[in-house]
Amino acid sequence: MRVLERYEQELGAKNVVLERALLGMDKIRLKDKIDPQNISKVIKRVSTGIPGFDELVEGGIPEGFVVVITGPPGTGKTTFSMQFLLEGMKNNEKCIFFSFEEKVEQLIKQSIRYGWDVGDYLDKGYLEIFGFTMLSLEEITEIIEVFKPKRIVFDSLNLFSSHEKFRHSSEWRNILKIIKEKKIICFTITEKKHGIEINEFDDFDFMGDGIFFFDKKLKQELDQYKTYFVEIQKMRLTEINEMPHQFFFSKSGLRLRNASNLAKRLANSP
Ligand SMILES: Nc1ncnc2c1ncn2[C@@H]1O[C@H](COP(=O)(O)OP(=O)(O)O)[C@@H](O)[C@H]1O
Ligand SMILES: [Mg+2]
Repeated sequence: MRVLERYEQELGAKNVVLERALLGMDKIRLKDKIDPQNISKVIKRVSTGIPGFDELVEGGIPEGFVVVITGPPGTGKTTFSMQFLLEGMKNNEKCIFFSFEEKVEQLIKQSIRYGWDVGDYLDKGYLEIFGFTMLSLEEITEIIEVFKPKRIVFDSLNLFSSHEKFRHSSEWRNILKIIKEKKIICFTITEKKHGIEINEFDDFDFMGDGIFFFDKKLKQELDQYKTYFVEIQKMRLTEINEMPHQFFFSKSGLRLRNASNLAKRLANSP
């Protein structure tokens, strides 16, 4: 009681004293909220479905993230993104593939080559593919709001919008807002005219919560085949190592090289 009286003398009316006390409590609560141990519980991550990849990003992609899948042509971007949707469909999540590049038939044919039963998911209503589309941003927004997907792919943004137009587009910002609010995970594929050795970024890169750069190279001069690799260049809320990670096209889709070794190594690390 004495304490309260002393504060009353210093601060004036009783309600001011109480208000200060409550503010103090709020601060304590806020501290609780930003406790790093709590944060790992709050961030929900989803699996990419690419064997060996989740381990590189603390177990998966945080919900509400937009990840830029970028690199030169023929480096595995479309395959990686379709495989990411497939993982969602397996878990009964609704998925949309907006393709501005390939026809629906071609995408399906490519998927069947890997034994992915996308036809079945299309029939059951877990997948929508919009191929060769000339949709406006308003129409895309409506489709997302009606279909309520958990995962979305845009392939590729370059064909759909110029950097400049995209940067100033309020409709696009609205789509990004919906993605955050509805905790959707969105892969936006973009094309680069250069390989990974050139450190150049475009407006699309700045938008992403994450950037995965895909490329292929001869590892040694005398190699007959190029080696595919992916580098995680940015991933908010996630510890990453910016090393190129090798992958290959297996019979059932993309796989990181040494995927199982990598998992074991990370599991054993302190
Ligand atoms: N087993 C395979 N099946 C399909 N494509 C393969 C295979 N191995 C290598 N590729 C190459 O991968 C590329 C297709 O990958 P894709 O995901 O369409 O690339 P991007 O979207 O980056 O252009 C093609 O250039 C193809 O030659
Ligand atoms: Mg492609």
